[in-house]
Amino acid sequence: MRHLATIVVALLAATGGLFPPFPTAIGADIAVAPTGVTIPKGYRNWQVVAPSQRDDKDEIRVILGNNIAMKALRAKQLPFPDGAILAKLAWRRVKSAEFDKTFVPGEPQRIEFMEKNAKKYAATGGWGFGRFVNGVPADDKEHGTCWPCHEANVKGNDFVFTRYAP
Ligand code: HEC
Repeated sequence: MRHLATIVVALLAATGGLFPPFPTAIGADIAVAPTGVTIPKGYRNWQVVAPSQRDDKDEIRVILGNNIAMKALRAKQLPFPDGAILAKLAWRRVKSAEFDKTFVPGEPQRIEFMEKNAKKYAATGGWGFGRFVNGVPADDKEHGTCWPCHEANVKGNDFVFTRYAP
């Protein structure tokens, strides 16, 4: 028993407290945007909907879709069904070091998601919006900008800008 007590004391000293910091650890693993949207597992393996560029921000983007979204896009099904998720990955646009007529992705800027759940996100067209920079969710204020812009510009396409590039 004395031996066990020694181990416990040593462990406490090493970890700095009685309990490991579970809440922090979980929070770091699962980044949740103020809207409730999280970074979907495996999104980096999704298929390409289309690329895009933005001149004023000097950015290259790629828009990806999960299987449900890709199926709907190819079938031209609108509105998107529940479970569809679209991702937008943005990088700084830089000149290729090897071939200066080509632009390539530089520093990553942010990743964004739109997740369809007609009931849960009824107030924002059925879409849950999430923006993450270096894995950290953007604040409430930034998330307040998503819906107004998408609503104002692409009402006729279920609030989605990107069209499928075959
Ligand atoms: C001022 C307008 C504007 C705002 C604000 C905005 N977006 Fe978008 N969003 C766009 C445009 C334009 C595109 C088309 C792709 C591109 O620009 O690269 C887009 C595309 C997207 C896409 C890919 C699906 C699609 O609609 O094409 C996602 C996901 C997305 N935005 C998420 C967000 C999130 C999350 C926020 C808020 C944090 C947000 N957007 C704020 C204009 C906006």
